[in-house]
Amino acid sequence: MRILGIETSCDETAAAVVEDGRRALSDVVSTQIEIHRRWGGVVPELASRNHVVQVMPVVDEALSRAGVSPAALDGVAVTSGPGLVGALLVGVQAAKALALAWGKPLARVNHLEGHLVASFLAERPPEFPYLGLVVSGGHTSLYLAEAFGRYRCLGRTRDDAAGEAFDKGAKLLGLPYPGGVAIDRLAKDGDRAAVKFPRAVVKGADLDFSFSGLKTALLHHVKKHGVPRDGDLADLCASYQEAIVGALTQKLFRAARRLQLDRVVLSGGVAANSRLRAAVREKAAEYEGVEVFLPEIRHCTDNAAMIAVAGTHALERGEVQGPGLNADPAWRL
Ligand code: KG4
Ligand code: ZN
Repeated sequence: MRILGIETSCDETAAAVVEDGRRALSDVVSTQIEIHRRWGGVVPELASRNHVVQVMPVVDEALSRAGVSPAALDGVAVTSGPGLVGALLVGVQAAKALALAWGKPLARVNHLEGHLVASFLAERPPEFPYLGLVVSGGHTSLYLAEAFGRYRCLGRTRDDAAGEAFDKGAKLLGLPYPGGVAIDRLAKDGDRAAVKFPRAVVKGADLDFSFSGLKTALLHHVKKHGVPRDGDLADLCASYQEAIVGALTQKLFRAARRLQLDRVVLSGGVAANSRLRAAVREKAAEYEGVEVFLPEIRHCTDNAAMIAVAGTHALERGEVQGPGLNADPAWRL
């Protein structure tokens, strides 16, 4: 089964051909980072317009790199939500037109499901059930993944997503967008214990996350001491990053213990963070028997291969969409 995946929910235009829901024959991502950088974040209207320009060339590139003709495809899968509505619409319209023109079945994919199944592209995929943590610029959610297409949300952020905490923190420190990457790099030479940041306590649902207090604490720190330079900046980045990573790992392993799950799977752009990857591995070593699955960096950030993986299983379940498919910007998994 060969599926073409298309992803345009945010600021990456991506297309990929995936075989049997496991092997990416091609995996093309055209990023708009340079376009949005001067605005310090994603500008929705610019994102939509650039998807319009990029989507067909990216699809052509994915087919040609895979060496697969449209006739040899078994279906098309597209992200139809959640995300920026104008951005999503570009991918959805392109996918509908291609599926119709080629006479192939069309699957809709929830972007978060894509992230949750990205680790199936790795050499050693997880088995169900597993605990999946989606940490990206728009989402911080913890799921019990029972099977393809069956996920239960165990907790989510009450305010900012972890990626937003990175991006907004970086902005306060005058670092370039996307902030997670900049903080990750600077933090490598910093002291993680240099600055004490509050660890959010979320009342009621103790698997929920909250990052807005942390961002405020950084703002106060900067107002009081100014933006530090050199080694002090590295220390501040390392301490701020540690507060985010600490909150994520704490809840992840609390849930693993509570549900007695011994497989944890990370995904989303923040799962590319080098400290988070190391901290989760360290913690798993403490919890004997807990296995950690981390997708390759390029499958952590937005890509279409993960959308094709989820779409393959949707089509296998017979979930085929018609020309009425629409973007669903607030689709909850
Ligand atoms: O999954 P993604 O590519 O797009 C969304 O669906 O949001 O995630 C983008 C987010 C951004 O907030 C970016 O700062 C963050 O992932 N990110 C990182 C790293 N690489 C990307 N955060 C921390 N450390 C990184 N190395
Ligand atoms: Zn994403």
